[in-house]
Amino acid sequence: MLEQQSFYLDTDSRDLEPETRHLWLEEQSQIVAYLRVLADGPNGHCIGRVVTAPQARGKGLAALLVNHVAATTSGSLTLKAQAYLADWYVSLGYEAAGEVFNEVDGIPHIPMALKRL
Ligand SMILES: CC(C)(COP(=O)(O)OP(=O)(O)OC[C@H]1O[C@@H](n2cnc3c(N)ncnc32)[C@H](O)[C@@H]1OP(=O)(O)O)[C@@H](O)C(=O)NCCC(=O)NCCS
Repeated sequence: MLEQQSFYLDTDSRDLEPETRHLWLEEQSQIVAYLRVLADGPNGHCIGRVVTAPQARGKGLAALLVNHVAATTSGSLTLKAQAYLADWYVSLGYEAAGEVFNEVDGIPHIPMALKRL
C-alpha cells in the first residue's frame, strides 16, 4: 500500500477461495471502504485489508464494515491490527490476543480477537 510506505506485493491465493468474502461500501459508484474476510479453521474467520479512502475517513465506514462481519459470522473472529489502531479495535469489542510483532511489511501489528458476548 503506497500510503503505508509498504511496497511488497500483497497478493495471496486466498482472494478467490469460495469462503472468502469481499465487503465494500460505495459512494457515488466509487468504492470508499473495503475489507476481506477469510475462513480461519473450521469455526472461525479472520478480517484483513481494512481500508477507507482518505476522503471518506472519520465517518464510521470502516467500523460499519468491521461490525457487519461480527454480525454475520459466528465462532472466532480475529484480525492483525496495525498496533496504533489497537484502541480503535478495542472500542469495537476486540481484545489483544498476542504480542506486537513486525509484519512482513515492517509495520508493527498486534493479533486481536472479538470478545463475543
Ligand atoms: C484505519 C482506517 C481503516 C479507518 O477507516 P475509517 O472509515 O476512517 O474508520 P472509522 O470512521 O470507522 O473510525 C475512525 C477511527 O479510526 C481511528 N484512527 C484512524 N486513523 C488513526 C490514526 N492515525 N491514529 C489513531 N487512530 C486512528 C480513530 O481512532 C477513529 O476512531 P473514532 O471513531 O474513535 O474517532 C483508515 O484510516 C485507513 O484506511 N487507514 C489506512 C489503512 C490502514 O491503516 N488500515 C488498517 C489495517 S489494520
